[in-house]
Amino acid sequence: MTDQQQTSAPFGKGEWVNEAWNQALAKTLRNAKRIGSGFPHASSEGVYDLAEPEWWTAGFWPGMLWLLYQGSGEEDLKRLACECERKLDRVLDAYVRLDHDLGFMWTLTSVASYKLTGDETSRTRALKAANYLAARFNLKGGFIRAWNPWYEGDSNAGLAIIDCCMNVPLLFWASRTSGDPRYAHIAEAHMDTVVKHFVRSDGSAYHIVTFDPVTGERIGGLGGQGYAPESAWSRGTSWAIYGLTLAYHHTGKSDYLYAAQRVANFFLSRLSEDHVPAWDFRAPLELQALRDSSAGACAASGLLLLAEKVGAEDGAVYRTSAERILKSLYESYGAWEDPNEEGLVLHGTSHYPEQRNLDVPLIYGDYFFVEGLARLKNGGPFFWE
Ligand code: GLY
Repeated sequence: MTDQQQTSAPFGKGEWVNEAWNQALAKTLRNAKRIGSGFPHASSEGVYDLAEPEWWTAGFWPGMLWLLYQGSGEEDLKRLACECERKLDRVLDAYVRLDHDLGFMWTLTSVASYKLTGDETSRTRALKAANYLAARFNLKGGFIRAWNPWYEGDSNAGLAIIDCCMNVPLLFWASRTSGDPRYAHIAEAHMDTVVKHFVRSDGSAYHIVTFDPVTGERIGGLGGQGYAPESAWSRGTSWAIYGLTLAYHHTGKSDYLYAAQRVANFFLSRLSEDHVPAWDFRAPLELQALRDSSAGACAASGLLLLAEKVGAEDGAVYRTSAERILKSLYESYGAWEDPNEEGLVLHGTSHYPEQRNLDVPLIYGDYFFVEGLARLKNGGPFFWE
């Protein structure tokens, strides 16, 4: 038996993985009857809200439909995912609302569709999105600008955020499919900035870093969706684990792998007893009872990829930890038998500082939970890769 087999055999075969997959599939098929080709974000009182297609979360529902279609062949899921992708055309064409989340949105719709069906229209859409994303690069600072002004007079041209680690895979994909290395150059430059300016020596990460947009000089860190500038927002930590691992996957640059391991080790050392993270690892203790299941799900899928990239010993730790997180989400955070709850995974936290969507299912939590299961079932291809 090889080392790889030794590390993976006992986990991927767990009966609970198939059970969880079947429950996720059944619930999504039920949800699809109401949600159709809408864009759910957060579930409230058991019902997913439908966000506008401009919102950064628009890719997760179609992305999840693609994942479940891959594993089941259910044509309805594919049809709805394609409908969602077409609906996003008006967002891409209108241009003005687009920010760096182009990566999340078109990786899980158009790249997914192109990978699974070979549809050239999907490839063109994803390339357009990649061009808009590349155009947000600040050459002096070596970062991709996060947002557009939120209000008249807002000046945020110098803000970059850790979440963008998951947007840059669209650029790596664009270089691969087009043969033009410029997209990957930008992706690498941004990820170099993440390693240098976002990841702290203990493996925690800033949510937001501000730069002078003219000189490119680093100004400082901001708390963003975390508790405070020097705290450790758990979803940001999971974006870093997964995004750095993907950057290593695409480039083979060991800096990214070491940084991913540093962040992963921090994340795992801070997990609570049930293996699911508090929304911020450095929030005051009385606030840490509030979990963010979406951070757990995203980290788990990233850890499963990380496990494939490192030696057998570390790989076994990451894989076992990922499985523990997903199993805990399945056994203790699901509402599988509750017909009055559309969310797959309960207890996500979207934005604590603004008190938005606390302790609710979030569509990205559902997405990464299903993606993690697909990894345990040896599914794929995965859209970020
Ligand atoms: N990208 C925004 C968030 O993670 O909530």
